[in-house]
Amino acid sequence: MDKDIPAHVGIIMDGNGRWAQKRGLVRTQGHLEGLKTAKKIVKAASDLGIRYLTLYAFSTENWKRAAEEVGFIMGLVKQYLRAEFDFSKKNKIRTRYTGDLSGLPQDIQKEINDSITDTSSFEGMQVVLAINYGGRDEIVRAVRRFASHNNKNGAEYSEALNKISEEDIGGYLDNPDIPDPDLIIRSAGEYRTSNFLLWEGAYSELYISDKLWPDWEKSDLESAITDYQKRERRYGGVKSA
Ligand code: FPP
Repeated sequence: MDKDIPAHVGIIMDGNGRWAQKRGLVRTQGHLEGLKTAKKIVKAASDLGIRYLTLYAFSTENWKRAAEEVGFIMGLVKQYLRAEFDFSKKNKIRTRYTGDLSGLPQDIQKEINDSITDTSSFEGMQVVLAINYGGRDEIVRAVRRFASHNNKNGAEYSEALNKISEEDIGGYLDNPDIPDPDLIIRSAGEYRTSNFLLWEGAYSELYISDKLWPDWEKSDLESAITDYQKRERRYGGVKSA
């Protein structure tokens, strides 16, 4: 692999349900397989030298699914966080979180917080778990945080509001210390971002693969990175001479 490894990669892990349906299995089997793939890709990303990996595990819209499926995914999150501590320690992988933690069941909140604390000194790749995450919701929460930290009155308040900059909003997002994703990958062939990293992904390169998430291998991540390395990033500017 070339040296230009993206610092931050986001992944929309789509296609678990279709993977199961194709095999005559229940959807939850697809999620179980999806979790195994997530572990494999976390290791592969860490070995490739990616610094931050954001995994979209559950969106603010996924609550619309059947209670059984929602409960199953929450169980997998718990299982992942509990079972992976040794793996995280060995590979120095730090757990981070993005989303509305307060909207998750208490036991899941605790698992996430424990994993964040237990891995906080690890200096390898940071895995950002997007669970109960919505890009619009994150922006709304950032604006609310901004407003509560600028708790002024009358004219002072409207002056503060008029001065809001992109940096201000960006600074109140869930993880302002993490750079914007260079590359956003989506499996299972759908051409949309589904409310993932709306603000942070403004200039991310997109890579969409037809392969269903449970079928992903390290080589698929490598193909995505090779494709990314051919892109010319202009950030709205013009091609440099
Ligand atoms: C999308 O496939 C996948 C999800 C909504 C769940 C993803 C969750 C996991 C892989 C497990 C938890 C992961 C971690 C890292 C803790 P889909 O069900 O929308 O598939 P479909 O579009 O084929 O129906």
